[in-house]
Amino acid sequence: MSRTVDEIKEKVNIVDVVGQVVQLKRTGINYKGLCPFHQEKTPSFVVSDQRQNFHCFGCGEGGDVIEFVKKYYNLDFTEAVEKLASQYNIPVEWGKGDHGEREELYKINREAAAYFYRQLRKGPNPGLTYAAGRGLTKETLHTFGIGYAPDEWTGLYDTLKAKGITEDKMMKLGLISQSGKRYYDKFRNRLIFPIQNTAGKIIGFGGRILGDGQPKYLNSQETPVFQKKNNLYGLYQSKAEAVKEDKIVLVEGYMDAVSLYQGGIHNVAASLGTALTENQVRLLKRYTKNAYLCYDSDEAGIRAALRGMDIFQAEGMDVRVLHVTEGKDPDDFIKQRGKEAFLDLMDAALPYADYKIKYLEGQHDLSTDRGRVAFLVDAAGVLARLGPVEADMYTKELSDRYGISRDAIRREMEGSRKERAPVPRRQDPEEQTVRTPMDLTEKLLIKVFLTQQEYLDREAEWKDAIQSDSGQLIAAAMQKARAGNAGAAGSTPDTPAPGQLDERAVLEQLDEQDQQVFLSIRDGMPAPADPQGAYRDCLIKAKKALLRKREQDLIDRLALADGTVNKEEVDRITAELIDVQMKLKS
Ligand code: GTP
Ligand code: MN
Repeated sequence: MSRTVDEIKEKVNIVDVVGQVVQLKRTGINYKGLCPFHQEKTPSFVVSDQRQNFHCFGCGEGGDVIEFVKKYYNLDFTEAVEKLASQYNIPVEWGKGDHGEREELYKINREAAAYFYRQLRKGPNPGLTYAAGRGLTKETLHTFGIGYAPDEWTGLYDTLKAKGITEDKMMKLGLISQSGKRYYDKFRNRLIFPIQNTAGKIIGFGGRILGDGQPKYLNSQETPVFQKKNNLYGLYQSKAEAVKEDKIVLVEGYMDAVSLYQGGIHNVAASLGTALTENQVRLLKRYTKNAYLCYDSDEAGIRAALRGMDIFQAEGMDVRVLHVTEGKDPDDFIKQRGKEAFLDLMDAALPYADYKIKYLEGQHDLSTDRGRVAFLVDAAGVLARLGPVEADMYTKELSDRYGISRDAIRREMEGSRKERAPVPRRQDPEEQTVRTPMDLTEKLLIKVFLTQQEYLDREAEWKDAIQSDSGQLIAAAMQKARAGNAGAAGSTPDTPAPGQLDERAVLEQLDEQDQQVFLSIRDGMPAPADPQGAYRDCLIKAKKALLRKREQDLIDRLALADGTVNKEEVDRITAELIDVQMKLKS
């Protein structure tokens, strides 16, 4: 793949490719035209023959030829590469990546699961007794591949060793531990829940102690094939039903998922002992857009629901919450009350806004004016996250119920939206604005701008390098101050006025917090001896950081895609990953 990409970059001229769809005019060494990515009347879209890239000074879009094809034709990376390759007769070669090693790790996990399963099924044993005590049927044990790790030190180790599997691999998968030169099984005397990805590959294990004791659950560590934040327990078994029913029930515990399934709720999955993540929600979204969070009714359960709902809402899913009231958890509930009662709970589950508003009602003293105002402010924050029609409905309802004018609610919603718009903030109004801090590279760039203000005009170059809220605000203030300055001096952007930036004009635009940051950069940082070099270094560092971020993102996506979708997607992500890693090395 990266060979193909290299060849495209070598053989294809971006001026040609862009020229097919944008009318370009030569200006000096560059080409100029009307930007295809935003509406404009005067051309600010520049294509460089020399650097083989494009950039729009109007909207900030930019990149190489593949990026252009991606954006213009609305393709993903592979599709863009394929389009260019076929157009220019370049053979497409897809990388194989680390496919082989992953497959091997899955295979070893499957051997381990088979071993645990055999131990459970061979005659009476404490594991089977425990499973029976919890009401698990043979069929359920089979469906989920539940097994038993006997109270032995090397049962699994010996079994895998006899199959020629190395200690190295067993350690990597967290199946064994090491003490000095001795290896021993990590899971002992536990009921074993194999964790599968949505393709059915076994990626890890959860082991429950038989009876009381600590830790109650022992989980596989994070491994190359197991990332908790990217997977859900039971989804492999439940995804078909989730599609069919167009809804999924999400619980917290392994036992809850298994027990609901056995009780006839086949569209159920469990988070893996950690708070719900964005990636888990995205994973669910492949099967259905309707989620039912089913959490305990204690305070921890309510908090988990409030947090979880926001993630679903942000991903555009419809989310509802139900709390089991009788019995401690969903497992107890379905055993005591049965499937129909659970379905009733689902029917009565509260949607996002209802749940949040009901929670807020409980948080405020609504018999006082003060309490009602505070409630209104909080509730408006919830409504501001809804679509206009829905928000309107709730506005009317709240207005009628609490005798608050509709206009007042709408004004609060506006305020809440504005507050959120520029910088994502924590919800708690008590809390001071939390801003992402500037890193050293950003600070150094600002320092350079102080003396080399002409760099401020080259936003395209440094835009990606300044990611923090403060950094962006300060840079924008400096640009504005410079623009004001240049105008006053009667100079044009092409011939920047030399000399210092009007720092007062910068400070005027900043709030106190950012003023302090700006001043600490101005007074607290040594000026670089070679500002040009420092500028270049900063850009390179920032680019690396971005690539590293992209790398992590791809690794996450690879774990998510993990053979569950078509093989092409895995190949494509792998190919891009290799590409990014090669760029990082060079
Ligand atoms: P039972 O007590 O057997 O009914 O299990 P449960 O699934 O109801 O567990 P519980 O509600 O106590 O916890 C929910 C989930 O949190 C579990 O399924 C585990 O994923 C995780 N968890 C609970 N206890 C531990 C622990 O001691 N260690 C770790 N790593 N995870 C735990
Ligand atoms: Mn339980």
